[in-house]
Amino acid sequence: MMLKFFPGIFQKWVFLAFSLCSFLCLKTPAQSCDPNDHLALKEFAGNLTDGLIIAAWSNDLVCCDWVGVSCESLSISSTSFRVTKLNLSDRGLKGFVSHSLGRLSELKLLDLSHNYLKGDLPAEFSLLKKLKFLDLSHNMLSGPPWGTLSGLISIQSLNISSNQFTGDLLELGDYPNLLVFNISNNSFSGSFNYCFCGSSNSIRALDLSVNHLVGGLDGLEKCELSLQQLHLDTNSLSGNLPESLYSMTSLEQLSISGNNFSGSLSTNLRNLSSLKALIVCGNRFSGPFPDVFGNLKQLEQLLAHSNSFSGPAPSSLSLCPNLRVLDLRNNSLAGQIDLNFTRLSRLSTIDLASNHFNGPLPDSLSSCRELKILSLAKNNFSGDIPVSYGKLTSLLFLSLSNNSIVNLPGALSVLQQCKNLSTLILTKNFHGEEIPGNVTSFNSLMVLALGNCALRGQVPVWLLSCPKLQALDLSWNYLDGSIPFWMGKMENLFYLDLSNNSLSGEIPKSLTELKCLVSLNPVLPNLNASAGIPLYVKRNQSGNSLQYNQVSSFPPSIYLSNNRLNGTIWPEIGQLKQLHVLDLSRNDITGMIPPSISSMENLEVLDLSNNNLYGSIPDSLKGLTFLSKFSVANNHLTGLVPTEGQFGSFPSSSFEGNPGLCDEIDSTCDVTDNTGMRPNITSVPQNKFARRSIILVVTISVINIFDKLILFL
Ligand SMILES: *[C@@H]1O[C@H](CO)[C@@H](O)[C@H](O)[C@H]1NC(C)=O
Ligand SMILES: *[C@@H]1O[C@H](CO)[C@@H](O)[C@H](O)[C@H]1NC(C)=O
Ligand SMILES: *[C@@H]1O[C@H](CO)[C@@H](O)[C@H](O)[C@H]1NC(C)=O
Ligand SMILES: *[C@@H]1O[C@H](CO)[C@@H](O)[C@H](O)[C@H]1NC(C)=O
Ligand SMILES: *[C@@H]1O[C@H](CO)[C@@H](O)[C@H](O)[C@H]1NC(C)=O
Ligand SMILES: *[C@@H]1O[C@H](CO)[C@@H](O)[C@H](O)[C@H]1NC(C)=O
Ligand SMILES: *[C@@H]1O[C@H](CO)[C@@H](O)[C@H](O)[C@H]1NC(C)=O
Ligand SMILES: *[C@@H]1O[C@H](CO)[C@@H](O)[C@H](O)[C@H]1NC(C)=O
Ligand SMILES: *[C@@H]1O[C@H](CO)[C@@H](O)[C@H](O)[C@H]1NC(C)=O
Ligand SMILES: *[C@@H]1O[C@H](CO)[C@@H](O)[C@H](O)[C@H]1NC(C)=O
Ligand SMILES: *[C@@H]1O[C@H](CO)[C@@H](O)[C@H](O)[C@H]1NC(C)=O
Ligand SMILES: *[C@@H]1O[C@H](CO)[C@@H](O)[C@H](O)[C@H]1NC(C)=O
Repeated sequence: MMLKFFPGIFQKWVFLAFSLCSFLCLKTPAQSCDPNDHLALKEFAGNLTDGLIIAAWSNDLVCCDWVGVSCESLSISSTSFRVTKLNLSDRGLKGFVSHSLGRLSELKLLDLSHNYLKGDLPAEFSLLKKLKFLDLSHNMLSGPPWGTLSGLISIQSLNISSNQFTGDLLELGDYPNLLVFNISNNSFSGSFNYCFCGSSNSIRALDLSVNHLVGGLDGLEKCELSLQQLHLDTNSLSGNLPESLYSMTSLEQLSISGNNFSGSLSTNLRNLSSLKALIVCGNRFSGPFPDVFGNLKQLEQLLAHSNSFSGPAPSSLSLCPNLRVLDLRNNSLAGQIDLNFTRLSRLSTIDLASNHFNGPLPDSLSSCRELKILSLAKNNFSGDIPVSYGKLTSLLFLSLSNNSIVNLPGALSVLQQCKNLSTLILTKNFHGEEIPGNVTSFNSLMVLALGNCALRGQVPVWLLSCPKLQALDLSWNYLDGSIPFWMGKMENLFYLDLSNNSLSGEIPKSLTELKCLVSLNPVLPNLNASAGIPLYVKRNQSGNSLQYNQVSSFPPSIYLSNNRLNGTIWPEIGQLKQLHVLDLSRNDITGMIPPSISSMENLEVLDLSNNNLYGSIPDSLKGLTFLSKFSVANNHLTGLVPTEGQFGSFPSSSFEGNPGLCDEIDSTCDVTDNTGMRPNITSVPQNKFARRSIILVVTISVINIFDKLILFL
């Protein structure tokens, strides 16, 4: 993960210095530029194959007026104007960087970022002795650049990030005036090198993130004092953090996520009193957090997820009034939350999920009126949701899944006061409670997950007063009664999971009219404020997970499996052209498979297994080109299994348990039975309950076979 921050003051200073000069150094219209500079630029343009400048740079001698070119007169008396700045950022340039640029000997600023330039840097680049600002980021440049760049003795800001440069950091040159050094997102190797610190005692920002650096941070002490930003994310750096790190008292941003650092954080952390962002996620840190945050009054972001930190959440964090993002997810932190959130009113994101926190939900959290994202999932919080949480009017996302929260009626009546709440994930709580009927409205709610709560009752009618609902998960409860017809009228619903309940009766025909699945409506953007925190995950068989930050990226799905649904599959189901997943398995559905299913042209998963379907598999299904998972196992189907299209790739287990089904080579197959007559079924189980409990065991493996969105983190 690359982490971006506000540019430091010093960068503004660099710009200011340039701007001041271009203001003072007189310019006249139609300046004639130095003929050598003119030639060098023409040669540079001639070596580009594409890009906006080729047309814009005409042949006359006034190259100082060309797009992206700035000139200065070197002295008041001089008539010759020299090219001092060349900014062709984001102009679609393609081709190689010509060595002629090395002849622009007065060049101070060169910005060729965000183009498609490729190849090595020409050696003549090293002749740019006056160059102070170089930005070549976001191109496709390659090769080891150090030989060339080492000649840039005046360089203050160097950015060659997001290219394909290689080479060992140890070969880095000497840059006595360096303020900013940015080589992120390349393929540099070797170990952390401090010589830029050794040779320049004014260095302010180092960004070495997203490379292949190894080893520890030895020698960092040479960087002391001046460094304000240190970004080392996504490398293979390891070892303990050196003590010298804690004496860099100017440090404002320290981000070292995605490495292999270990050990614990030292109490000397207290010395970093300028720190605004401390980002240490995805390492192997352990031990408790030093409780020294009272000295870090500037702190705005603490991101420490996915380590092995233990002990309590440091209570001194209460003394960081500017804290906006607190992400301690996926550690081994424990105990009650002893933070005074009254003093943390700026917080907009809190993620403490996947730890061992317990005790009541902190009441003072209701003071965080700017709070947008709150995840306390996968802990052991208990008790009610505090009534005061109704004051969290900025809240967009709340997950409390996998805790021991009780009192669902109380919870819903508090949370419906959070007028902006768009995602509510309460999965695995409220064990065995009745689903309440007295909810009035959730005007902003888009995602509601109340699965795995062993809830009793029926599908609640108040869902109709959630006009924006897009995704609903009520799976793994004991809901009975039928699926209400009004569900088909929910205008924005495109993800519905009612699987693993005791629902009975027919599937209402209205579900074939779900507006969002018939034709995809533009879905409103949601939760842009997530600060890179993954909000939803989908896990697959191999344990990999797919992360979604937006509801709109969920696959449109209907899961009704493992209920007691009967009746037939409506032919009108073919109208659901946007549906990607249809799972009707493990019910008592009968009749034939309607050929119109093949109209659901986006279908990726179709599971009709373990029902009482008869007749043949419609040949038209071979036209479902995205279908990757399919099962009709354990029905009473007869006739030929299609072999064309995706059907060539389904395993025989997709068809087993249908004695009348056969493939082409099987000569005993009775291909004449296409009458659609209901066959004599003698094996319909009498005892539904017995059947259900057996199936519950089996279903767990079914879920592993067919990937499914899991709405808890
Ligand atoms: C391209 O650059 C080469 C040398 O790098 C030079 O000889 C040639 O003249 C340039 N092409 C044009 C069209 O200017
Ligand atoms: C170069 O120009 C772009 C706009 O075309 C501007 O956004 C960018 O800041 C400029 N670069 C420098 C270093 O001034
Ligand atoms: C390259 O990095 C410098 C310094 O960190 C920064 O000022 C500049 O905006 C960056 N360029 C781009 C295109 O982001
Ligand atoms: C490094 O350059 C990238 C542009 O590729 C920019 O996003 C990033 O902020 C820069 N790093 C620093 C520390 O300025
Ligand atoms: C990293 O560089 C690659 C190309 O080299 C680019 O596609 C990608 O967007 C860059 N990543 C970031 C975060 O800038
Ligand atoms: C931290 O600061 C204290 C007091 O200012 C100083 O004595 C100590 O040496 C510093 N620690 C480090 C690691 O710089
Ligand atoms: C991290 O360190 C551990 C122990 O030293 C080692 O086993 C592991 O391979 C390292 N992982 C990476 C990604 O370097
Ligand atoms: C949790 O952290 C561990 C390392 O401690 C990491 O391997 C794992 O991928 C993380 N899980 C998630 C869901 O972030
Ligand atoms: C929390 O902080 C507020 C504001 O500083 C203070 O009034 C209150 O007494 C504190 N609460 C506790 C339990 O310390
Ligand atoms: C619904 O009833 C429960 C008690 O059964 C009560 O706690 C809750 O406040 C009621 N909600 C509303 C919105 O009236
Ligand atoms: C379907 O189930 C409902 C509710 O259990 C039942 O009343 C009805 O008779 C069943 N229909 C068929 C055809 O079995
Ligand atoms: C079903 O059974 C009845 C009587 O047992 C018989 O008359 C009928 O032919 C059978 N139908 C089929 C399709 O085997």
